[in-house]
Amino acid sequence: MKLYSVALSKLLLLSVSCLLIGCGGGGAAPAQSAASETSSFGTSSSPTTNTPDPNPDPDPDPDPDPDPSGTEDPQQGDEGSIEGLFRNTFANNFKVGGAVYADQLVGDHPDRAIVESQFNSLGSEYEMKADFIAPEEGVYNFERVDALVQYAEDNNMEIRFHALLWHESTPDYFLEGTPEEIKTRLESYITTVVTRYKGRIKSWDVVNEVVTVDSNASDPYRQSNWQAAVGSNDYIEWAFNAAHAADPDAILFINDYETEFPQKRAQYMQIIQELLDKGVPLGGVGHQFHLNVDIDPQEVLAAIDATDALFEDLVVHVTELDLSVYNDPGTCWHTQENCDADYGPELPDSINNKQARIIKTLFDGFVARPSVEMVHFWGVSDEQSWLNRSPVERSNFPLLFDRNYEPKTWFHAITDPDYVIPPE
Ligand code: XIL
Repeated sequence: MKLYSVALSKLLLLSVSCLLIGCGGGGAAPAQSAASETSSFGTSSSPTTNTPDPNPDPDPDPDPDPDPSGTEDPQQGDEGSIEGLFRNTFANNFKVGGAVYADQLVGDHPDRAIVESQFNSLGSEYEMKADFIAPEEGVYNFERVDALVQYAEDNNMEIRFHALLWHESTPDYFLEGTPEEIKTRLESYITTVVTRYKGRIKSWDVVNEVVTVDSNASDPYRQSNWQAAVGSNDYIEWAFNAAHAADPDAILFINDYETEFPQKRAQYMQIIQELLDKGVPLGGVGHQFHLNVDIDPQEVLAAIDATDALFEDLVVHVTELDLSVYNDPGTCWHTQENCDADYGPELPDSINNKQARIIKTLFDGFVARPSVEMVHFWGVSDEQSWLNRSPVERSNFPLLFDRNYEPKTWFHAITDPDYVIPPE
């Protein structure tokens, strides 16, 4: 299937950018800065402001504006304060949060107010990836992750690490040499990173997207740069074993996308089963759930049921939830062609309400499934979502908060049991 043709050209470009402008010593270029020069993320003039502050404030203002909402929803009553509403609504069920860049958490960034008002868990869109943390052999950039972890602790939030091994964010040098040399280098990287945050980060995506892109393939494993360099899929268990050795108490996750589709889901389950049969210390299953407005939410919930039915001891995290308003044909993600037309800055209410209905069904379903221990959105507000630039540059509306950082219909639909979603 589709998604993320981005890969190697972007990585090569990023490596070159790093050489030119320096990714070492904490001043790394974010992926999309490099990507914005390629067609990978479909833009040469990204409208987003994702360039992380090289010195994120590790000691943020303890008393930010508690209500990022601005205007009130007519069905919300006089008080209208939404302080704590999202995290409190699901406090007995699962942690809620999202993935951010460090720059969203400093100063008076509006996303920071939302994060502090609504989340009890935090993740990272890019700054925990290997090409950011270790762009060159022997060079480690921990400043951003240190700041994120400190911020999460200061604000009583959990943190989930994404991701120790992902084919798209693997620096080239990781894959040089014999399989034994690659194994030693991977183990050294994972040991260094996990040991640094041992006891502070509980949930780790150890491998990300190791399932094949061919939903008809009988071999469920991705034919990736890792598989090619190692000559087998053993790198997966090397990664899990190294993470477990560094922190035996950590919950170690496998994570993947399009698990809402039955064929991909079956391939995912097969890999999980094989890893467990081999005694690999896998403790959790991550479902990314990058969805679009045409999804049947029951299919999404079926992905969790499949995990629950087969592996009752595994924790489930929803790791990257967003709900695109576009349902592009498969070629769009690969070629940036034949993509759905841009809605522009105003989304028709009918689409927004359809999204609200899906999200409401999903959250009701998550609540009904005790294996679900964390639900993360991939971003905070529509303004900053990666889906405004991937697969092409156009307005998208995939998150709980809108371009003015106000809670959307969906927010009220999932936090207020009396809220009535307007008809489509
Ligand atoms: C994406 C981020 O959103 C971008 O900002 C970054 O430049 C590239 O990676 N699946 C994943 C995530 O597991 O890591 C990807 O995140 C989105 C798809």
